[in-house]
Amino acid sequence: MTKVAIIGAGPCGLSALRSFEQAEKKGEKIPEIVCFDKQEDWGGLWNYSWRTGSDQYGDPVPNSMYRYLWSNGPKECLEFADYSFDEHFGKPIPSFPPREVLYDYILGRIKKGNSKNKVKFSTTVTSVVYNGNNFEVTYRDKKNATSSTDIFDYIVVANGHFSVPFIPEYPGMKAFPGRIMHSHDFRDAEEFRDKNVVVLGSSYSAEDVALQCHKYGAKSVTIAYRHNPMGFNWPKGMKEVFHLDRLEGNKAIFKDGHVQEADAVILCTGYLHHFPFLSEDLKLNTGNRLYPPKLYKGVVWQNNHKLIYLGMQDQFHTFNMFDCQAWFARDVIMGKIKIPDSSEIEKDINKWVSMEEKLENADQMIDFQTEYTKELHTLSDYPKIDFELIRKTFKEWEHHKVENIMTYRNKSFSSPVTGSIGPKHHTDWEVAMDDSLKTFLDQPKK
Ligand SMILES: Cc1cc2nc3c(=O)[nH]c(=O)nc-3n(C[C@H](O)[C@H](O)[C@H](O)COP(=O)(O)OP(=O)(O)OC[C@H]3O[C@@H](n4cnc5c(N)ncnc54)[C@H](O)[C@@H]3O)c2cc1C
Ligand SMILES: NC(=O)c1ccc[n+]([C@@H]2O[C@H](COP(=O)([O-])OP(=O)(O)OC[C@H]3O[C@@H](n4cnc5c(N)ncnc54)[C@H](OP(=O)(O)O)[C@@H]3O)[C@@H](O)[C@H]2O)c1
Repeated sequence: MTKVAIIGAGPCGLSALRSFEQAEKKGEKIPEIVCFDKQEDWGGLWNYSWRTGSDQYGDPVPNSMYRYLWSNGPKECLEFADYSFDEHFGKPIPSFPPREVLYDYILGRIKKGNSKNKVKFSTTVTSVVYNGNNFEVTYRDKKNATSSTDIFDYIVVANGHFSVPFIPEYPGMKAFPGRIMHSHDFRDAEEFRDKNVVVLGSSYSAEDVALQCHKYGAKSVTIAYRHNPMGFNWPKGMKEVFHLDRLEGNKAIFKDGHVQEADAVILCTGYLHHFPFLSEDLKLNTGNRLYPPKLYKGVVWQNNHKLIYLGMQDQFHTFNMFDCQAWFARDVIMGKIKIPDSSEIEKDINKWVSMEEKLENADQMIDFQTEYTKELHTLSDYPKIDFELIRKTFKEWEHHKVENIMTYRNKSFSSPVTGSIGPKHHTDWEVAMDDSLKTFLDQPKK
């Protein structure tokens, strides 16, 4: 029997488990599957951990989620085609849920089946080597401190790529008297109440960490971009300046001449695609981009078609894109989709990469990833979902952010699966301090 190893039980690994479960439900004979996750439970980043640094076994903590994190895109854009928000919560819910609500949703459909018994938790995959015929996978059971090696025919790499921080160094850091940290270790914005915070970066972490610090009472928040500013209409107390030059004592000195006293510097400088467990010939080598090269249809490793990567793209689309990838990968593994010859593969990859290299703005990037996801969708039996509505929703969302960065999370959108419209949340995001599932779902009675 074909044996498949899935590395990671975050959203991508769970999509893979779900795809096989659905095939089995239809009476198909599925391969033997073992999923490994180094955390104690499933859900990947969405399984919030207070820990930073190492876990109790000395393993690096993969989690980058923090308290009070709310979805930064409309939930309608990431909805599963085979399991709507309405089905999970029994009613329509607002469009921008906090972490705990999304976590509950991600786990909802997979908990209904028996996939959990396929997952080895607290188990780190430490080595994957291709022996010319199949893969030798070595994994460490952290609780029992034992290592084992098994043979697999296919590998699904679903270990995420927002876990290993990219940490640059600037002059003066060694002598800075305050706190310097990466967003990977950010857990609670309350820590920065009444503090002067400097945030480096100009992407989603910079935006959200800066807004969080402001929302929870930082004295000032200064965001330093390196290439392009985010350019939002920041509220009083926040500003965006050009590139950090150096730190001198507790002063941050920027390349535009701006000087700011700082109690803390938070590096929102992104993450590394990191695969310490893969032998060099199997390793995807890429930055955070919309079409990493060497992946046929964004998932199948060009040099070895038995190696699958899920979710390695920079992400507008998330959970339903992961599903489309997982359904496609399942059908490759089960022999229902034939991989073309190497020149066709090369042509297909080049087509997507060259389109990606020409993208100039967010609308074009949304179009690109929507087209990619739509194409994958046509290649498997992943259920119907309205990607045109998702495309439109993403673009409206982008424009809402430009209109007002403080209010975009108060907007409502309609579901690409059920058509229902997310009700307005009972509390505007700016003043919603309690991010618990209970408070979020308890809409006051009219
Ligand atoms: C701070 C932050 C906020 C985000 N917010 C949003 C959001 O609002 N909306 C959205 O759609 N997306 C968001 N994302 C994007 C996020 O990437 C996806 O939502 C999603 O978590 C990706 O799933 P994944 O399975 O690829 O990776 P992960 O969620 O990272 O899961 C990977 C899993 O692999 C396991 N693993 C890693 N290495 C090994 C190993 N060697 N052996 C065994 N197991 C291993 C890890 O323990 C982990 O459980 C956010 C990301 C970050 C960092
Ligand atoms: N739900 C939420 O609210 C939320 C919050 C946080 C993160 N997220 C998710 O987390 C994922 C990762 O986002 P991310 O922002 O961490 O990573 P990212 O999108 O890869 O962005 C990395 C940023 O780091 C900057 N950078 C890199 N090196 C730098 C340097 N030496 N000095 C200054 N800046 C530097 C880059 O700037 P250049 O452009 O100049 O290279 C870029 O702005 C995304 O999927 C996002 O959606 C979501």
